[in-house]
Amino acid sequence: MNHLTRRHALFSGTALFSSTSLGAFAATGARAEPANLAAAPILPAIRLTAAVNRPNEDLSGAWAYSKDLYKTGWSTLMDWKPSRGNQRFTDVDVAAEEARDRYALFEYDMQKAPRMALPGAWNAALPQLRYYDGLIWFQRTFIASPKPGYRALLRFEAVNYVTQVFVNGKPAGAHEGGFTPFTFDITDLIRDGVNQVTLGVDSSHTDQSVPPRITDWDIYGGVTRPVRLFVVPDTFIDDLYIRYTPEGRIIAEARLLGPAAANSELTLSIPALKLSARARTDEKGEARFDIKAPRGLKLWTPETPTLYDVTLTAGSDTLSDRVGFRTVAVKGHEIRLNGKPIFLRGICLHEEEFGSNPARIMTEQASRALLTEVKHGLNGNFVRLSHYPHSEVTTRLADEMGLLVWSEIPVYWAVAFADERALTTARRMMAENILRDRNRASLIIWSVGNETPKTEARNRFMGTLADDAKRLDPSRLTSAALLVNKTKVDGVLHARIDDPLVDKLDIMSANTYTAWYGGDKLEDVPPIRWSAPVDKPLIFSEFGADALAGFHARDRRKFSEEFQADFYRATLANAATVPFLAGLSPWILKDFQTPRREHPVYQNGWNRKGLLSETGARKQAFAVLADWYRQKAG
Ligand code: GCU
Repeated sequence: MNHLTRRHALFSGTALFSSTSLGAFAATGARAEPANLAAAPILPAIRLTAAVNRPNEDLSGAWAYSKDLYKTGWSTLMDWKPSRGNQRFTDVDVAAEEARDRYALFEYDMQKAPRMALPGAWNAALPQLRYYDGLIWFQRTFIASPKPGYRALLRFEAVNYVTQVFVNGKPAGAHEGGFTPFTFDITDLIRDGVNQVTLGVDSSHTDQSVPPRITDWDIYGGVTRPVRLFVVPDTFIDDLYIRYTPEGRIIAEARLLGPAAANSELTLSIPALKLSARARTDEKGEARFDIKAPRGLKLWTPETPTLYDVTLTAGSDTLSDRVGFRTVAVKGHEIRLNGKPIFLRGICLHEEEFGSNPARIMTEQASRALLTEVKHGLNGNFVRLSHYPHSEVTTRLADEMGLLVWSEIPVYWAVAFADERALTTARRMMAENILRDRNRASLIIWSVGNETPKTEARNRFMGTLADDAKRLDPSRLTSAALLVNKTKVDGVLHARIDDPLVDKLDIMSANTYTAWYGGDKLEDVPPIRWSAPVDKPLIFSEFGADALAGFHARDRRKFSEEFQADFYRATLANAATVPFLAGLSPWILKDFQTPRREHPVYQNGWNRKGLLSETGARKQAFAVLADWYRQKAG
């Protein structure tokens, strides 16, 4: 097996609770290695929608960690299998073993290991881990008191990139993907009193990963979002998908999991609307509500982001959420919110908090600091959360503050489009993202990727993702950020969007960097002629220029604030000439870390296309965009 196949043959199956049998550890030969993660189904076995609103034990805090760059505790070399002395997940007190047996050999000791505060990317935790890209083991204990009739669920909001989870030395499951939640049922693994949870987290990517090895953002390895422990009744509400329809109805689809899931009564209530309705689950544990919306319903808009408390009860379990009701659709080249045309005044964001050493810890305060600059600083109504699913903290805040959201999975640049394993990974990521956020009124667009080459394999790969999105959530729109070639005719640039993928998308989106990349000049930008063979809305999903905050140049050269401001003026002048343009999300709100940008004066590991510096200093171009949006808003 080549490295890739061997690597992907390393991972366990899905949750203990999954419909497929858990092939957590295939006894391939003498070595105990996890089975192939590819066996995991596209849809997660456990969704635990709106988990954040459930009582839980947050396992954030100090975790022991042990570096394992050569994966001695995970894989084999020649015929050497991982030994107990390397397997950090073993349920053992190393010091006691060493005291008991002079021949005991361990090359780790988690009890004596250093601690790291989780969540947070390890690259920001210690200078010596700044560019660490590989396997690190984490471990902590927690107290449990298992009760008959209840399940213990362990939920990870995001871990980058491949994770293996062990409880008391036994496999609980594995997951691939750095930005979407996963939940394992650990009921059968926990004991009364002290329990041990161990994570093997490998940040390294392969050419078949999603994203592949090369991106324009930083490593951010590790447990980047919270880990929480939930105790739920044996039969619990696993999913609720609720939405408002153009016909003025509220549709809710629910799913129970557990022995009493079938033929159970559910009650859906929205107190502020004096709405209460009952339904009964079918033999699969699923039920549907289809209710005429009460007259007093206030529709969600960015200006009036009305949210309603919704609860769903089933037996002794309750799922609660805060939901906005609205519709979104395309009509010709218009995007329509609640039936009215809307122009998306947006900006792109990476998931990276303000500060000179970001750890991707997206607390509500950190997210609010960023979104406030969009809503109130730029007078925006839209954010493109690029290039991967951002934290649920941010999508919930967008609901509350009134910002429309474009959500994207990292099908980015040179993906292995002909590789079935990569497609399965991307499909699973799309499903996990949609199932987590399809109750967020702010979320209007599912993006299937960014800047990918127009090949047959790519069209099939991304077309499959677009179909999945429509199947999992018919109420929202699809798009992708496309590369658009420009040709100069009689001195004027023509940008024609002729991409077969557009047939599968509701919205065409183009990244356009004329006069930053390539040899064209700023004066070439305002007259660019945009055209497309289909009548669909267009979004300029990216445009931008680097500027080092505080660098001013009389000659207005690249990397000066003056050039960036001139670039925005030129591109906005061009935007005003495009009749089917329905929105903008320039690249990008804030400078962000990336190993690809190493100019020693201007960049030093930062992409400087932000309108804000990494510490939040506004550059001249910020006001150029804010003024344009203020006029656009009328
Ligand atoms: C690309 C890409 C971004 C990248 C940006 C840039 O369009 O989508 O991820 O950071 O351009 O070159 O700065």
